[in-house]
Amino acid sequence: MIAYLIHPETVNQRVVLLCSFLEKLGYELTRLPSLEAAAAEPSLQKGGDNIVVVPTTPEWRPEANNVVELARALEGRAFVIYICDEIRPEDYKALLRTGAGECVDWANAPKEISGINLRLRGAASPMLPFVESDVSKNLIVGMVPACGGAGNTTVALEAGVYFAKLKGKDARRSGVVELDFNHATICDYVDLAPRLDIMELARNPRRLDDYMLDIFRSNHSSGLDLFSAAEAPADCASIDGAAVFALLNKLHDRYQILLLDFPDYRPSWGDDALRNCDFVFVTARRSVPALKQAARELKRLRNLGFAQERVAAVVTHCQAGLFGRITSKLDIETALPGYRVFYIRDDSAFATESVNSGISMVDARASRGICRDIQAVATFIRTLAPREVA
Ligand SMILES: Nc1ncnc2c1ncn2[C@@H]1O[C@H](COP(=O)(O)OP(=O)(O)OP(=O)(O)O)[C@@H](O)[C@H]1O
Ligand SMILES: [Mg+2]
Repeated sequence: MIAYLIHPETVNQRVVLLCSFLEKLGYELTRLPSLEAAAAEPSLQKGGDNIVVVPTTPEWRPEANNVVELARALEGRAFVIYICDEIRPEDYKALLRTGAGECVDWANAPKEISGINLRLRGAASPMLPFVESDVSKNLIVGMVPACGGAGNTTVALEAGVYFAKLKGKDARRSGVVELDFNHATICDYVDLAPRLDIMELARNPRRLDDYMLDIFRSNHSSGLDLFSAAEAPADCASIDGAAVFALLNKLHDRYQILLLDFPDYRPSWGDDALRNCDFVFVTARRSVPALKQAARELKRLRNLGFAQERVAAVVTHCQAGLFGRITSKLDIETALPGYRVFYIRDDSAFATESVNSGISMVDARASRGICRDIQAVATFIRTLAPREVA
């Protein structure tokens, strides 16, 4: 995978930073002094997932129509990325129409190039696909179920409602995205119509803009925004990282707290999405096999590079004693040694009443034990800060 950087051999600080960014993305860097040199470069005559990056600087600004010509000439062999803050609409369209080039501005270059890289590599990138390298102020929290029916969606939803209801200086713009496109339930739980057209998004991820994002949004009366598939895709595997990351990218920009409700299977883009999380909770029912699964999942997250303080377990369906205290905590802690654990009591009658009435538990009776348990998770999330991305 080669990145051909086209720029005369002058020293420009932005170009230097760009070179190191491309190397971090995993590209081998080759510098060429001009568009003509790129067109004649023998190694560019072969195909591959190589890119040609053309950064404009005050001292060097190749004509856009020449960049379009280069993209046409290299079609099927390399993808041309023209970095430029001003481009005429007709040149922009002409470049897009080649299908082999794109124009990005300097401010968004890291994020856009990461996205292009991901697309070209079929979402197999080990890099951070949607968090910009220059640190975000918004928080992304992953909720990963260790088993089916663990209460993952319920915890994400109810914690989201809790955030959305905060007022004044505590108020946070919050969203939950249900990443299980096959069995979407979150909107049903609060009697809303799911509106995310994931197949449309997969057809053309680049079309996603704020207007379209609003169309995909189901707004809960608390103020919480939910993103959940309106229709299951005929072939779930056809929903690739490009669609998911286009969505997460936009959501991450928009929401101060974004909760990702992961499915209980592992999609191809799942680990890359996880790597972008500031914190990950693994949810499991309180049963010996489920706790074993949770311990394995936590270990897997550690192997993905998560520090112990960036992961925690949420154990649901816990039994409470006569005075409302969770029992058997010691057994659970023994099964999940060293990890922070949150306990959510079993309250089937109330949970069932909630989903049947379409009124969230926190809305219906926030003082109920199960709501206080979920609130403890939410309160902890509020103490988290987005991590620094190198
Ligand atoms: N602590 C709890 N006590 C009792 N019932 C609960 C509890 N948490 C969730 N439920 C109920 O369990 C059912 C499954 O919950 P939920 O959909 O949140 O689980 P999930 O892990 O997202 O499941 P899936 O694997 O289908 O995505 C729902 O009917 C919900 O109301
Ligand atoms: Mg679920």
